[in-house]
Amino acid sequence: MSGIADAFNRPVNYLRISVTDRCNLRCIYCLPPQGVPLLPHEDILTYEEIASFVRAASTLGISKVRLTGGEPLVRAGLPGLVAMLAQIDGIDDISLTTNGILLADFARELKEAGLKRVNVSLDSLKPERYAAITRHGELDKVLKGIEKAKECTLEPVKVNVVVMEGVNDDEVTDFARLTMSEGWHVRFIELMPFGGDNPPLAHSIGKAPSPPKFVPVERVMDRLQSLGRLEPSLPPRGNGPARYYRFPSARGTIGFITPISDHFCFNCNRLRLTADGKLRPCLLNDMEVDVHQHLRRGAATEELKETIVGAIKSKPKGHQLARGRTAKERTMSQVGG
Ligand code: 5AD
Ligand code: SF4
Repeated sequence: MSGIADAFNRPVNYLRISVTDRCNLRCIYCLPPQGVPLLPHEDILTYEEIASFVRAASTLGISKVRLTGGEPLVRAGLPGLVAMLAQIDGIDDISLTTNGILLADFARELKEAGLKRVNVSLDSLKPERYAAITRHGELDKVLKGIEKAKECTLEPVKVNVVVMEGVNDDEVTDFARLTMSEGWHVRFIELMPFGGDNPPLAHSIGKAPSPPKFVPVERVMDRLQSLGRLEPSLPPRGNGPARYYRFPSARGTIGFITPISDHFCFNCNRLRLTADGKLRPCLLNDMEVDVHQHLRRGAATEELKETIVGAIKSKPKGHQLARGRTAKERTMSQVGG
């Protein structure tokens, strides 16, 4: 079943669920070094509440669910939530976006619970630079996590790289080579302005004087030319906003996610649920619809469905980054990307 359509005739069948606003890293474009005030525990949806929500959403044609954070694997018992969601009729794809630090520890259990695949955020292949960008992350753990996920067939594993001028843009060819040598699926993401203290980085990597800047997709493609000719490719799986390419000899693909250079809002199929139970029709717009109160008092499925339909119908046509407008109320770690 495909999802019900919003006011602009876009069927919505994909739900991203942020299970926590906590994170074990502090990526320079996402969080200040000291972090941001965290939601009180009692405001966070329980796994039972999340499952009730997904049950209602599935009857409206939501069939794909992605778990995000913060960092979803810092929430205790996440495989238990995956198992609950996997039992819901109509949910045929459960995936996870993680920074990979804890992935090696949980990959097997997640797979057994019913998780299909993972996206791993990884912005550098150089240990020291990775530690600077994430403000202390250990690259080795992420690489082990990616290997373990593959071993457990949580595939395709997609690696998300946020490209920042002067920070990691010199590594795009290194990432692209891994699509050939290791069959990685790499996606280059344009840095989006986001969150309350944006541009988020007065305290940048090392002593960089200014916040990181986004790199337009053409510049990344130019750099990749030295490796060969990129051919358009089908997506490895999933139906996100990326455009895919591959080098003729490569097993893996290269995707581009271009919120800045290119609007992809016209076929946006997604809805987001925050850790504290707010439905967010658009990542880049602060509008939210509260479902927590319905869930907490055990509202009937019909009432939940009405609220979900209301949120879907209020999805804005697109973001307004070009006019300098973005979401300000929450950081990316509070929405889940
Ligand atoms: N711009 C672009 N991508 C971002 N992410 C987090 N913050 C930003 C931003 N400001 C990415 C993460 C992760 C995904 C969920 O979103 O790196 O891969
Ligand atoms: Fe980095 Fe994601 Fe954590 Fe933000 S939520 S600090 S992007 S790992």
